[in-house]
Amino acid sequence: MNKHAFIMAAKGLACYVPGLRRISGGTGGTSSARYCYSVWLRHLVMAGRHGLMHVPASVAELGPGDSLGAGLAALLSGANRYYALDLIEFANPRMNLRILDELVELFRGRQPIPDQAELPALKPLLDSYHFPHHLVTQEVLDRALAAPRVAAIRRAIASPADAASGEVRVAYRAPWHDGKVIESGAVDLVFSQSVLQHVDDLETTYAALHAWLRPGGATTHQIGFGCHGTAAEWNGHWVYGDLAWKIIRGGRPYLTNRQPHSVHVGLFRKHGFEIVCDVRRTETSGIGRDRLAKRFREMSDEDLTTMSAFIIAVKKA
Ligand SMILES: C[S@@+](CC[C@H](N)C(=O)[O-])C[C@H]1O[C@@H](n2cnc3c(N)ncnc32)[C@H](O)[C@@H]1O
Repeated sequence: MNKHAFIMAAKGLACYVPGLRRISGGTGGTSSARYCYSVWLRHLVMAGRHGLMHVPASVAELGPGDSLGAGLAALLSGANRYYALDLIEFANPRMNLRILDELVELFRGRQPIPDQAELPALKPLLDSYHFPHHLVTQEVLDRALAAPRVAAIRRAIASPADAASGEVRVAYRAPWHDGKVIESGAVDLVFSQSVLQHVDDLETTYAALHAWLRPGGATTHQIGFGCHGTAAEWNGHWVYGDLAWKIIRGGRPYLTNRQPHSVHVGLFRKHGFEIVCDVRRTETSGIGRDRLAKRFREMSDEDLTTMSAFIIAVKKA
């Protein structure tokens, strides 16, 4: 076992020990309001380039992580309903309230979207990082940021399990295991940022995405296919056989599911979606196919070199 795998396996083993189990150091970037603002507006702008005309009324997010900030950004740009579904309850009301206050200031100032200079690892990339006035219009923002409405959002996230305040509804379910946590056809847009690569049960999840959306509704996902620190090369996780991978994962509630890009494309199609945008980022510096574990040998060259993808899919009517 190489150094990376050994360190990851040791940490994975620690996850079996009560008290050491909780993942330390946060889940990603959602403890920062600027990160959340950037994530939501990047998804919105990309969806706008592929047919979305205005901010959707009902939004769901898979795997919000440390805070509900990206969904709060959706509410502050005009959405009225936000469903957040995670495997683990990472977010807490205190963090959500702090992020909300910072987001209100960002929206009030119509601040530009934080770009690669500030958030170099964040994808998707945009052509322009100007505030998207064409989607979040002055009129929409004036209504969305009115003091009584912001107060309603504050009340809703004080206990976000399922809270309605005025026109605003927030429902945070962690863990979720069953698509029935959201009524069928209740959602206009489902998004996720760096989540689908971690989901173990992709079949249930794709079926749920389809059930939640209304016909014609869109789903936007940034997915990373890298090794998440388990190897020296970005795609070195495809070297390990099943037993080695089981040891490396240890007791972690999630790591990468190691499914390449084409598996996600196939699942979107299988579950009744049309893919309208698929921005792949490729990298040839990783391992060659001679080192692939047996179960990945048939992987296409396209999958072997696809490091991440931003996918927008629309539920067929
Ligand atoms: C890398 S973090 C990303 C968090 C956040 N979206 C961000 O951009 O920082 C991965 C998140 O996916 C969540 N996750 C893993 N499996 C999941 C599942 N089956 N359903 C929903 N969320 C899941 C984790 O709990 C975690 O919050």
